[in-house]
Amino acid sequence: MERKLVVGNWKMNGDRVRNSALLDQLVGAMPAAVDCAVCVPFPYLPQVGESLVGSGVALGAQDVSEFPEGAYTGDVSVAMLADWGVRFVIVGHSERRAMHGESDLTVARKAAAALDGGLVPIACFGETLVERESGVTELVLLRQLDALAANLSPEALQGIVLAYEPVWAIGTGRAATAEQVQTVLALVRRWLADHVPAPERVRILYGGSVKPETAGGLFSLPDADGGLIGGASLDAQSFLEICQAAGSAAQGN
Ligand code: 13P
Repeated sequence: MERKLVVGNWKMNGDRVRNSALLDQLVGAMPAAVDCAVCVPFPYLPQVGESLVGSGVALGAQDVSEFPEGAYTGDVSVAMLADWGVRFVIVGHSERRAMHGESDLTVARKAAAALDGGLVPIACFGETLVERESGVTELVLLRQLDALAANLSPEALQGIVLAYEPVWAIGTGRAATAEQVQTVLALVRRWLADHVPAPERVRILYGGSVKPETAGGLFSLPDADGGLIGGASLDAQSFLEICQAAGSAAQGN
């Protein structure tokens, strides 16, 4: 992919005042050479969506229901997100898998619902530290990816964004090394070759403690198409620097 994609995942952070201060610094300052999005908490979709109009930064959400409508208290449908101009939606973040018991099948169904409704799912997958240290990383990642392929046609799967987020690297300040990341991304690219018509056109992001200092190296990896940024996306300067690093990495490719 020539253009990198950098997505901020605000997680459960922010309020109207802080959002507005952050967006004031981001809008107008984003590098044009990079595709950017911010995935914000549901209540702030209208506020953030309005601020982003004409900015080139896309609006995203952090989760979505697999069901179209009905008696699902607390859930939000694809159509509701689309109604607010949402373009991207994260599915299967490890925090939701761990804290809300989301299975590989649920994540795949959410991805399918998003694609069906015209949104781009950013499907997260990744191993825990225990899994890495017991040598089952590849097995775990392929299990998570295979669930997507089992529930999506090759044509639908072509429209997904994948995000490799090793659980042990999330929020820990301990990003995976470039070598660890490239090993996984190459595995995923090979997996894609067996499942979609144009494997090189599916974006694979890396997420987990990406900081301005590490972003350039990670985004320059042969199979890295960008990043999913947690903590650093809440600081305008850091997020801008990470987006700029993605722009430079794209030019270097
Ligand atoms: P951090 O960048 O805070 O490690 O979070 C990564 C993440 O979970 C993005 O979805």
